[in-house]
Amino acid sequence: MSEQILFKVTVDNITIEVPAGTTILQAARQIGGAVAPPAMCYYSKLEGSGGKCRTCLVEVSKGSEKDPRPMPKLVASCRTTVMDGMEVKNITSEKVIDARAGIVEFLLLNHPLDCPICDQAGECHLQDLSFEHGKASTRYEFQRRTFKKHDLGKHIQLHMTRCILCYRCVFTADQLTNKREHGILDRGDHAEIATHIEKSLDNEFIGNVIDVCPVGALTDKTFRFKNRVWFLKPMDAHRNCPTCSGRVTLWNRGDEVFRVTARKDEWGEIEDTPEGKPGWICNTCRFDKKHTHDWIIEGPREINRHSVIAQGHYAGNIGTTLPTETFKAVNDGRAPHLLMDIHNESEVNLPSIRLSEIEGPSHGTSFNNNSNNA
Ligand code: SF4
Ligand code: FES
Repeated sequence: MSEQILFKVTVDNITIEVPAGTTILQAARQIGGAVAPPAMCYYSKLEGSGGKCRTCLVEVSKGSEKDPRPMPKLVASCRTTVMDGMEVKNITSEKVIDARAGIVEFLLLNHPLDCPICDQAGECHLQDLSFEHGKASTRYEFQRRTFKKHDLGKHIQLHMTRCILCYRCVFTADQLTNKREHGILDRGDHAEIATHIEKSLDNEFIGNVIDVCPVGALTDKTFRFKNRVWFLKPMDAHRNCPTCSGRVTLWNRGDEVFRVTARKDEWGEIEDTPEGKPGWICNTCRFDKKHTHDWIIEGPREINRHSVIAQGHYAGNIGTTLPTETFKAVNDGRAPHLLMDIHNESEVNLPSIRLSEIEGPSHGTSFNNNSNNA
């Protein structure tokens, strides 16, 4: 067997050896931590992904040992392979930091600032990217894009205004299902995710588009508006599934299962099974097995790197402070005329109310008024 050729590459002053053919992004991920550039469109489990969003741009300050000239422009690290002796700057390059702030601004041109009502909030890669590299304001003065609504069936909700056109969901449907029924229509700033003649996407593995979507453009209809991810306890669990690996993360509150997702690694990608295959999960596991007795619970899931729900993720940057606003402060010094106790108004908080089992998004009319209030 021929010996594997190893190349030496230095990223942010840390040198490692990687097999020839490794991309700069993969080499940086092997070092780990902040050295690894963010990636919004690249997904190691999806063939052909990457090269669309430019968030992974890096500066190559030395091309290789043989040709030490720097590369004239920043390069997409997910699509550029390492050369022997290459030196790369990620967070140590001012040019990269500046370019990344510009990319965030571009990605947010048409993206609504609706994190407070978005189910992806707390685990959205664009939210993290904006927090780490974005600016507090925008220079954009025009109206954001609006779209005709497309119904993607009973399981998946599409919010096209949030889509960053990363193509991950298209590759997922292409590579995991027998028949892709959605894609990107039109070009340039008219491009959008759509289904031809609005077919529902009901293939057994199509639910995985929810897990690969880096933003809240594709979300789980069975979980929509039911709870915030940071109130839920992620637990590793498995079941003997005839269709998929059956290895999942359950998102529980008490013994109520609010949603089921595939297990994700520290880069926010689907984790491999012990057999070394990507742990994609089927729709039955994801949408239909919503009781703890359907699963063998293994233990709490450790959440790392991504997501505000990782303990202390933002604490180092902003500290933990209590909000200073009070009713009076936000109400021009006026005290509220009326204060209501939610328990007198609705039965939403009774232990017998199982939010995860309410059909569709839950809202005021989903609950009876408290009889004391009648
Ligand atoms: S819907 Fe999500 S996964 Fe699909 S292209 Fe848009 S951002 Fe990417
Ligand atoms: S992750 Fe490299 S271009 Fe999107």
